[in-house]
Amino acid sequence: MSELVRYALRDGVAVVTIDNPPVNALSPGVPEGIAACVRQAGADDAVTAVVLIGAGRSFIAGADINEFGKITSGEKQRGEGLHPLLAVLEDSAKPVIAAIHGQAFGGGLEVAMACAYRVAVASAQVGQPEVRLGIIPGAGGTQRLPRLVGVEMALRMCQFGDPVKVPVACEAGLIDRVIDGDLLEGAVAFAREVACQPVRRVRDRDGKLGTAEQNAPLFQAAREAAAKRQRGLEAPLAAIAAVEAATRLPFAEGLREEARLFEERLFSKQSKALIHVFFGERTVAKIPDVPKDTPVLSVKQAAVIGAGTMGAGIAMTYANAGIAVRLKDATAEALDRGMASIRANYAASVAKGRFSQQAMDERLARISPQVSYEGFEEADIIIEAVFEGMALKKQVFAEIDAVAKADCVLATNTSTLSIDEIAAATGRPEMVIGHHFFSPANVMRLLEIVRGKATSKTVIATSMALARTLGKIGVLVGNCRGFVGNRMFHPYRREAQFLVEEGARVADVDGAMTEFGLAMGPLAVGDLAGLDVGWRIRKEYRHLEDPRARKPRMEDALCERGRYGQKTRTGWYKYDEQRRASVDPDVEALIAEVRAELGITPREIGAEEIRERLLAALVNEGKRILEEGIALRPVDIDIIYINGYGFPAWRGGPMFHAGIV
Ligand code: 3HC
Ligand code: NAI
Repeated sequence: MSELVRYALRDGVAVVTIDNPPVNALSPGVPEGIAACVRQAGADDAVTAVVLIGAGRSFIAGADINEFGKITSGEKQRGEGLHPLLAVLEDSAKPVIAAIHGQAFGGGLEVAMACAYRVAVASAQVGQPEVRLGIIPGAGGTQRLPRLVGVEMALRMCQFGDPVKVPVACEAGLIDRVIDGDLLEGAVAFAREVACQPVRRVRDRDGKLGTAEQNAPLFQAAREAAAKRQRGLEAPLAAIAAVEAATRLPFAEGLREEARLFEERLFSKQSKALIHVFFGERTVAKIPDVPKDTPVLSVKQAAVIGAGTMGAGIAMTYANAGIAVRLKDATAEALDRGMASIRANYAASVAKGRFSQQAMDERLARISPQVSYEGFEEADIIIEAVFEGMALKKQVFAEIDAVAKADCVLATNTSTLSIDEIAAATGRPEMVIGHHFFSPANVMRLLEIVRGKATSKTVIATSMALARTLGKIGVLVGNCRGFVGNRMFHPYRREAQFLVEEGARVADVDGAMTEFGLAMGPLAVGDLAGLDVGWRIRKEYRHLEDPRARKPRMEDALCERGRYGQKTRTGWYKYDEQRRASVDPDVEALIAEVRAELGITPREIGAEEIRERLLAALVNEGKRILEEGIALRPVDIDIIYINGYGFPAWRGGPMFHAGIV
């Protein structure tokens, strides 16, 4: 018997415990160990039923994702996967009861569905998240799930991969009983109740599979939703096809179709990219010189300075995570504007059904608006989000230094300024760090955590842990102009202007990138963020520019004509009341003028050249950033671009796409 799976007896019930920390993935040895224990239980006359349970924090989080790379690289044969184990569970003469806590995900749920019964604690979650890895359930999930919960719900679970809470799963027929109190005790009691009852295998239950007429609109709706909400992704369509096979084919044939589709996805570029992203999101939390056991400060109270676009969003982020937050601005008017935008934002979420009025009231109650520093001495963290300007930031940090307690983290949301220079305005530069949120701060998942040269390891570790508490993905970066994300964005957007100046059409530049999978093209993004922001910065820093470097002209020309983007309803495009963009002949005329001024004879530029030049601009800057040690690893850049800049996860990020890993 393997060490990963334990066998014990309790009241005539065999208890099979999976113990493969941290999440009981089905690594080599685990499926074999479970099968051996179930066979042992079958041979033991003293046993009437079997309980399968996970040690530690989950039932089974799924197949071991590390194994997929070994298979696709040819290091390992694929073999029969989990199917031999599923056959042992399903054919067991003594009922096997899956006892679920934590997660039963992917192969974990598939194992549970091959058991005779499933019981769970109410806090557990079940799901088929494989599509997020670019694959589909490969151990019968697409065939057994519709037999238990019906086609509509099975489609939803396999197509989108969202976890389902136990009460919902129980209502749908996936879970047979919700256990209050101790799971093992409850599962053993349940096992004794059902021990002598005949077992009906899930594969033999066809009652919920529906008719062709009932199912046709469901599949059509699923494919339409995929086209709309999962643009560019291949796995959801394969998952839909596999569930469809369950409704058309006998079980064994359906399984074969699932296996064929699974294999196709496993060897796809998209699955390699998405698996890179899965591990990447966890790799960014690992900082070579800040060990896992670095002490972390507790953050129970926060304070934000500046109630503008970012400050208001940051305050909401803290309130949403259950942390009380003081929000200070210089004037009552600015504070009122900030609070009004927070209220409007929450009210819109309530109207959309994202959370209840009560939840809104609770969140609002955690935010204390104020114009003074009252109570700041109690804050565990202070986040500065005032206007972008070094003199102002220094003044604010000197004020904070005078009021904050000794172990308070002092964070700045600056997007361009030096953390070291800001830190020097305090007597404790080791407590100062950049927390660069992205707009809207309460929505965007990325938090660039900027380390200054004096920032302490405790402050770094605290910031990384805090990012997680806030529901963000924190990526540690070094201190330089624009840090990682904006520094790379700069040459990318500059190249977009060069392309237009050389002959490309505005809509073609954006179209090449949305076609590639980005949420927005580089010129439309400029219109959204406000072209005047960059224009002002360029004017201020013109003296720092290399006079020999080629400079784009177009955005200066647009701003000189008052075309700041969406806020003025004219920029690269013109915008109607609903902010729908259309091509503006005035811009075309301006482009012609600029080309003439620069002495450029325009030429036809195709989508491929556009894409290659724009991606090269990103990646080349990315390489420089790596050489300078501003980003720790290529994957850190990928995670930044996917979570902060709308880069498609299924391309793996700019560095992965360029073959730099
Ligand atoms: N395989 C291998 N490693 C896994 C894993 C898996 N299925 N799931 C999690 N891990 C690892 C993580 O990489 C991480 O490793 P690290 O500590 O070295 O960084 C560690 O376990 C802990 O994971 P998290 O940091 O994510 O822990 P959380 O508590 O935040 O989340 C979780 C736990 C919700 C289970 C989350 O890890 C998760 O969603 N895991 C993936 C689940 C999944 O996708 N399952 C389907 C796999 S594919 C499959 O089953 C195919 C089948 O149909 C044949
Ligand atoms: P904003 O102009 O919307 O808000 C700034 C707020 O700071 C205003 O409400 C102003 O009254 C207040 N303020 C100014 N001086 C103050 C003082 N001495 N004390 C207290 N409050 C003061 O600006 P925004 O966009 O929120 O930007 C804030 C910071 O966040 C800047 O450093 C900016 O670079 C950075 N940032 C902005 C992003 C964006 O997309 N807008 C994204 C990421 C970072």
